[in-house]
Amino acid sequence: MENILHYDTVALDDEKNALVIVDQTRLPGEVALLSLTRQEEIRRAIYLLQVRGAPAIGVAAAIGVYLAAREIRTEEYGAFCREFKTAKDYLASARPTAVNLFWALDRMERVVLAHRGEPAARIKALLHDEAVAIRDEDVCACRAIGEHGLSLIKDGDGILTHCNAGQLAAVKYGTALAPIHVGLEKGYRFRVFTDETRPLLQGARLSAFEMHSAGADTTVICDSMASQVMKNGWIQAVFVGCDRLAANGDACNKIGTSGLAILAQYYGIPFYVCAPTSTLDLRAATGSDIPIEERPPEEVTELWYEKRMAPAGVNVYNPAFDFADHALVTAVVTEHGIARPPYPESLRAMAGRRPEFTA
Ligand code: MRU
Repeated sequence: MENILHYDTVALDDEKNALVIVDQTRLPGEVALLSLTRQEEIRRAIYLLQVRGAPAIGVAAAIGVYLAAREIRTEEYGAFCREFKTAKDYLASARPTAVNLFWALDRMERVVLAHRGEPAARIKALLHDEAVAIRDEDVCACRAIGEHGLSLIKDGDGILTHCNAGQLAAVKYGTALAPIHVGLEKGYRFRVFTDETRPLLQGARLSAFEMHSAGADTTVICDSMASQVMKNGWIQAVFVGCDRLAANGDACNKIGTSGLAILAQYYGIPFYVCAPTSTLDLRAATGSDIPIEERPPEEVTELWYEKRMAPAGVNVYNPAFDFADHALVTAVVTEHGIARPPYPESLRAMAGRRPEFTA
């Protein structure tokens, strides 16, 4: 099998006018590319986690809404805006937690609103360029996160990560795994521990696959083993990604992140959150303001098993995310540098460098 790192996680095929993604539900067994043109397919791919991870969802939505705009037939600007908004809202309804989805769609809508009265063909061309820019900027942001994050660790360190916040969750490099990718490129060696990440196993299936493909010494552990590997002295830093970062530094990420942050503090291990500034949501004052996705109970009771593992009739609680309290976050690594407490000030300064604030 070809190295997964040579594939684009999310791409726009201009010839076929399609969103092309690596189907992450089939990894690591099979590398299958999906070429999606219909809005129902694109929304479904996001909901089913065929494309997943906050930055990747944002890029997929930007490309998706551009493809929707291409199909708008009216030449009347007001009608164009209304049809665009309908398509935008449809894609935005795929998942509620990762703010990158809404950030990317809002950014696309701003292009439409900034070109009031202009011909539909021109607005469509500008939407194409904006979607490509969002994609390209994600690569640059993740590379920069990798460089900044690498300054926090040293050759030979043991790194624990949760879920998949790597290349598969973005376009290239990823966020939490970017320092490892960049370090490996520079000849560092790391011992990487990937939490399997129940219930959807993004750690066992995706991070372990990605890290092993990149040449890292990779060990998969069950989520419940994190305390043990920390106690063994094998972990020098925890790196996680983020789906939405509140203004006070509360970091919402895959379910289990909160517990990991508590463990890291107990064992005196730095806990780093890696996130592009597109993940910052200053309208969320704290983590409690972030909507937490709840997913179907079958993901817990049946998926991955030959037969159902929990007795029929029991209740199942399946939140997809939780948040690490800001007091447990040692630093937030963004593309613009490393933010440290107090987060209300340091994160606001980072957000101020986003294009929509500086334009
Ligand atoms: O449900 P998922 O797989 O989309 O959850 C993804 C995560 O929790 C990632 O850690 C997060 O999106 C950061 S991705 C760089």
